[in-house]
Amino acid sequence: MHIEHNVPLQPLNTFHIVARAATLVRVRGLDDLRAVMAHPELSAAPKLVLGGGSNIVITGDVKPVVLKMDIAGMRLVQETTQHWIIEAGAGESWHELVRWTLAQGYPGLENMALIPGTVGASPVQNIGAYGVELQDRFESLDAFDLSTGQSFTLNAAQCAFGYRDSVFKHAPAIDPDSGQATGLGLAGRAVITQVRFALPKRWKPELGYLDLQKKMAHTGITQPSAQQIFDWVCEIRRAKLPDPAVIGNAGSFFKNPTVSPEQCADIIAREPKVVHYHLADGSVKLAAGWLIDACGWRGKSIGQAGVYEKQALVLVNRGDMQRDPSGGATGGEVMTLAKAIQTSVYERFGIVLQPEPFVV
Ligand code: EPU
Repeated sequence: MHIEHNVPLQPLNTFHIVARAATLVRVRGLDDLRAVMAHPELSAAPKLVLGGGSNIVITGDVKPVVLKMDIAGMRLVQETTQHWIIEAGAGESWHELVRWTLAQGYPGLENMALIPGTVGASPVQNIGAYGVELQDRFESLDAFDLSTGQSFTLNAAQCAFGYRDSVFKHAPAIDPDSGQATGLGLAGRAVITQVRFALPKRWKPELGYLDLQKKMAHTGITQPSAQQIFDWVCEIRRAKLPDPAVIGNAGSFFKNPTVSPEQCADIIAREPKVVHYHLADGSVKLAAGWLIDACGWRGKSIGQAGVYEKQALVLVNRGDMQRDPSGGATGGEVMTLAKAIQTSVYERFGIVLQPEPFVV
């Protein structure tokens, strides 16, 4: 195990916020996690697990020990009559996994092309795009328990996936008598080391989203291959989402809120153009980007934190990384902007927007 001190975090978070980690360990396998647990000081210290840094807002120097997940590997581990089972290390880039599976002839992840971040982070917030969520292609995962030092495997039900949600986002309940963690929450406790995906042999394209329908109409291709959908999704995303390599950001900053049909009817009566989708359970999902845009935030800034011009759901770092690598937005500016947006949306629509990224 190699322990680093006073490590710059700017290259390790896609918002490119300048901060340092007091202590950082690059985790290349289970042995590194076991070594952390056996270390006299690190074992008991608070820890922060960092994947691709694409879903995090850093508001100051990080005191917990940063476990930077670098576990590599992508392989076919099993074949059933229905599926190819693919296993990938937590540190692999998500987009590279999507690309690799398609090149090997295993379709199923194409709608989730270009989502920033790592394989290990993908189950945490059950990533999703263009009609497919991680849980639709998930088989199981291996994780390491930082409180016991044991490895364990979880299936989809045990991960308790929801919309941008899983067991890994919830803190464990603490038993008041023993002080031990109980209940389902695994936040701050489990480190995901490997993820397995079940990719369908009888693949069907998922083309329900309006943006993909437009691509079909425009190109005249009515039966696209998985590779064609991958290319379309990359084009759609590049046209409206900022490339984190150029403009710092963490993807959608807020979740799309869900309201009751009555609440939605009330909002439509006041705001007839509100973008909304009826869900199978009877509730209605509203487009948070539309709500923020309607409040006039698109293109606005607070300090160096801004609202992206082409998609109001994405907050960006207006700093110029090339010219001024030590400048740019602070995590505080990003959070001040986020709170101002939440207040506007609440005052106008009566809806509390929930942030997607972790704030540390
Ligand atoms: N809209 C506006 N103004 C804006 C932004 C959006 O009017 O400034 C409207 C759009 O015109 C559209 C609607 O809002 O009618 C929804 O926008 P979009 O299709 O861009 O999708 P989204 O709901 O904003 C979600 C995911 C994205 C995912 C896309 C495609 C969440 C929080 N976000 O965005 O995921 O790529 O759908 O599936 O669910 C992410 O989570 O980081 C992410 C990028």
